[in-house]
Amino acid sequence: MKGIIVAGGTGSRLHPMTAAASKQLLPVYDKPLIYYPLSTLMLSGIRDILIVVDPGDKQAFERLLGDGTQWGISLSYATQAQPNGIAEALVIGKDFYAGSKVALILGDNIFFGHRMSAVLDEASRQEAGATIFGYWVPNPDQFGIVELAPDGKPLHIEEKPAMPRSHYAVTGLYFYDEHVTAIAERLSPSARGELEITDVNRQYLEAGNLSFVRLERGFAWLDAGTNEALLDAANYIATIERRQGLKIACVEEIAWRQGWIDDGGLQRLAALMPECSYRQYLNETLKQ
Ligand code: DAU
Repeated sequence: MKGIIVAGGTGSRLHPMTAAASKQLLPVYDKPLIYYPLSTLMLSGIRDILIVVDPGDKQAFERLLGDGTQWGISLSYATQAQPNGIAEALVIGKDFYAGSKVALILGDNIFFGHRMSAVLDEASRQEAGATIFGYWVPNPDQFGIVELAPDGKPLHIEEKPAMPRSHYAVTGLYFYDEHVTAIAERLSPSARGELEITDVNRQYLEAGNLSFVRLERGFAWLDAGTNEALLDAANYIATIERRQGLKIACVEEIAWRQGWIDDGGLQRLAALMPECSYRQYLNETLKQ
């Protein structure tokens, strides 16, 4: 299975100064925002990842993340000229994932919780159809929303509904089979002029091929799309990391625990860093 991170520019809900560089490059507490979705894909066992970025920020992403060999993965980059919608990434990346299953994650989505690896592992093993993840939110008019039947199966899905039928937001992580290219290529822009990921999911739903996984309340899903949400995310990550002494979304540690780099590899990554708590953490991890 391959992965795509949708990290293009929209930035419309941020101060223009912060939006000048893609928000996925901004820090969330002790690491850049892009590390969080990247770590989610890595925890799903995905090692071949395309990052779709704003043309003006491509170099900055490449400088930060490189080609991934330092983490035992492969990272490549593609540009999206305009924010024409999340589903456009599936068209831009079609040659990259041609003929294989693909996981798509939004560059500003943070997932953290008990049994996360198991939940991701299960979704990535699904052979056919699509899998989406739902999370209860108080403001359903701000998200893609899914209505569920009493047996928990998805009934209806709608983007930012004025009259939401439920409180279950569709989170920004999607697993698709190889038929998704044909679906994405046939989409037409919505009323707001975007190729909507919700329209892709609706087609799987109508074909009876959409699986829904509820992320329970012990799980954290943060969408760092606004200044307030970015600050909330940073505070949340800082609180958990300081309490546990363990880092969330430390891609170096994940690569090492997955066995994609060895002790020497992790040591070299630590040595490349300036003296900081992140470097100390990598060295401590090695000792344990
Ligand atoms: O966060 C979950 C929500 O994400 C879902 O519930 C919605 O169904 C989905 O449409 C999306 O809604 P948002 O309004 O949050 O999407 P936004 O425009 O903020 O874009 C999310 C990320 O995708 C952001 O990091 C920028 C990137 N993006 C977005 C668009 C529209 C691109 O790279 N290119 C694009 O064309």
